[in-house]
Amino acid sequence: MKRIGLTLLTIATLVACNSNPKKTDTAATPDKPVADAGPSSNPDYAPGLELTSATDCATCHKPYEVLTGPSYQDIANKYAAEAPGIIPKLAEKIINGGSGVWGQIPMLAHPTVTQADAETMVKYILTFKK
Ligand code: HEC
Repeated sequence: MKRIGLTLLTIATLVACNSNPKKTDTAATPDKPVADAGPSSNPDYAPGLELTSATDCATCHKPYEVLTGPSYQDIANKYAAEAPGIIPKLAEKIINGGSGVWGQIPMLAHPTVTQADAETMVKYILTFKK
């Protein structure tokens, strides 16, 4: 009995040791999609996240899913190549609202958002580029 116990312990120890390198790998590759790690490490991410969270953007937009409005990733993939020139224009669209680019559903106007804050929001959205 003692011998079996010892053997089992040895096997368990070997298995535990063997799985160690794998554990290190898992730590290096988080469970979340890699795309999640990308935007948040961008300096443009946090200020824009704070501003968009303080307004109503999330009722129509999600980072990776189409809601009433296009996903932030779709917007970023469409416009990132045109940055920085496109940033003030998209900011104006956030302030004035509008439709016709992604479909006929309009984005509501946000007249209380300043141009500077809207540009910060756009920079945040562009960090989602795949
Ligand atoms: C009532 C729903 C709604 C809200 C609230 C909303 N959006 Fe939108 N948004 C839309 C829709 C719908 C579109 C697509 C408009 C179009 O097709 O031209 C859009 C488009 C956009 C675009 C791309 C514009 C373009 O011309 O391609 C950006 C950038 C954007 N939204 C940012 C924001 C931000 C930032 C906020 C919060 C301040 C916000 N949206 C709030 C519905 C919304």
